[in-house]
Amino acid sequence: MNFNEFSKETKACIRAIIECIDDGIFITDGEGTVVELNQTALGAQQREHILGKNMRELIEEGIYRDSLSLQSIKEKQKVTRFQNEETEILTTAIPYIEDGKVQLVVCCEREMQELEIMKEQIRNSEKKLEDYRRELEYLRSVVAKDVDVVMESDEMQHVVNLALTAAQYGSRVLIQGETGVGKEIIAKIIYKNSSRRNAPFIAVNCSAIPESLLESELFGYERGAFTGASEKGKKGYFELANRGVLFLDEIGDMPLNFQAKLLRVLQENEVMRIGGKEMIPIDVQVIAASNKSLADKAAAGEFRSDLFYRLNTFPILIPPLRARKRDIVPLIYMFVQSFNNKYETKKMFSLSSLNVLQRYEWPGNVRELENLVERIILTSKEDIITDEHVKQMLFFPQREEEDVSLMEGTLKDAIEKTEKRVIKKYMERYKSPSELEQALGLSRATLNRKILKYGLREDTR
Ligand SMILES: Nc1ncnc2c1ncn2[C@@H]1O[C@H](COP(=O)(O)OP(=O)(O)O)[C@@H](O)[C@H]1O
Ligand SMILES: [Mg+2]
Repeated sequence: MNFNEFSKETKACIRAIIECIDDGIFITDGEGTVVELNQTALGAQQREHILGKNMRELIEEGIYRDSLSLQSIKEKQKVTRFQNEETEILTTAIPYIEDGKVQLVVCCEREMQELEIMKEQIRNSEKKLEDYRRELEYLRSVVAKDVDVVMESDEMQHVVNLALTAAQYGSRVLIQGETGVGKEIIAKIIYKNSSRRNAPFIAVNCSAIPESLLESELFGYERGAFTGASEKGKKGYFELANRGVLFLDEIGDMPLNFQAKLLRVLQENEVMRIGGKEMIPIDVQVIAASNKSLADKAAAGEFRSDLFYRLNTFPILIPPLRARKRDIVPLIYMFVQSFNNKYETKKMFSLSSLNVLQRYEWPGNVRELENLVERIILTSKEDIITDEHVKQMLFFPQREEEDVSLMEGTLKDAIEKTEKRVIKKYMERYKSPSELEQALGLSRATLNRKILKYGLREDTR
């Protein structure tokens, strides 16, 4: 290929192209004679003076100090070098070789300022990343003592950081966030990392205790305080949690009447049992949690503002799972591992199934995810879980009311409920017993036992 044999049009076209490039472009033939260059490469030189001259001549004339093009021709390979120190120009000469002979060398000169800026940015982000990594490791090392918590997202790391600070100060804490976001797990992190970790952690679900029992449950009662009261009297949760942590869950549901009594205990740090005559001093760190905004409830007159302020000493807001999608896959891995252990299975989620789960909105947050992973593991026939199966479990069989019913009773109850539901669905779909067995991955004997257990036997079967 001889550049000089190109037509006028081709040459003009090449010139136009290289003029569009910001970097300096310099083309020589296989002998080192300059055949084309763009304005940037030309600099202050006269085009006519450079074009058609050999690089050796130009070096002799003192126009150039040396030539990377010549070096590239000699070495028959790409060479790269910083041209001069002051301006930081990176020059790259690339030979075009045909039939073992260098036909052309394209030399590209690039100002390094922009590159330097980019490098600096990369260095900075790498440093930041390293800082984050170290922080995450640190957080894991302090937190992961007894609590298995996933915190890949910056949001969750921030939450855990706050929890550790609250643990250090031993202050009262108010944790808010939608249901299932991990309020209780954060309360436990505070507890496990505080000086109170060797004393009790008592969790009380305020919405589960009838109003009439709140006082005796929380403050206790003396012997014979009321009919039906135990002979010996009973300590309330505040006393039981002494020197430890009292976790008041769903505090937003506490009746207004009782809120006044709680406020007094928090102010005085002492409780009086029902039927008692003396105040009992208590040393308890109270961590309250709510899935509704207490500020909103206070504004609506459904929660005492003074109690709200007293609880809100150290607020922690846990964002919903859909706002921290980076936690989703690590959470799935964690739950898969634990359920595989529990059920002695070897299930794995396929990439496409993980994609489906990452796009899902998770109205029930981590709790919903945990339940779903368990349900999928129990119902998938294959070891590798497909996106089809996930979609089916996510969008078809479950309805809101059914989910609520799962939240009653022990885990075993919930699993049995799910199992019954799944078998029932499959029985509707697969009319032939052998198909049904295959679809469920159960032997006939096991299936029959379960059908009997759940009273699913139809007369026709
Ligand atoms: N970041 C997390 N890492 C691991 N498990 C989590 C995390 N957040 C929540 N969970 C799990 O999800 C379930 C629901 O969390 P929980 O703390 O009870 O939520 P909340 O009290 O906000 O309703 C629990 O089984 C909990 O262990
Ligand atoms: Mg909870």
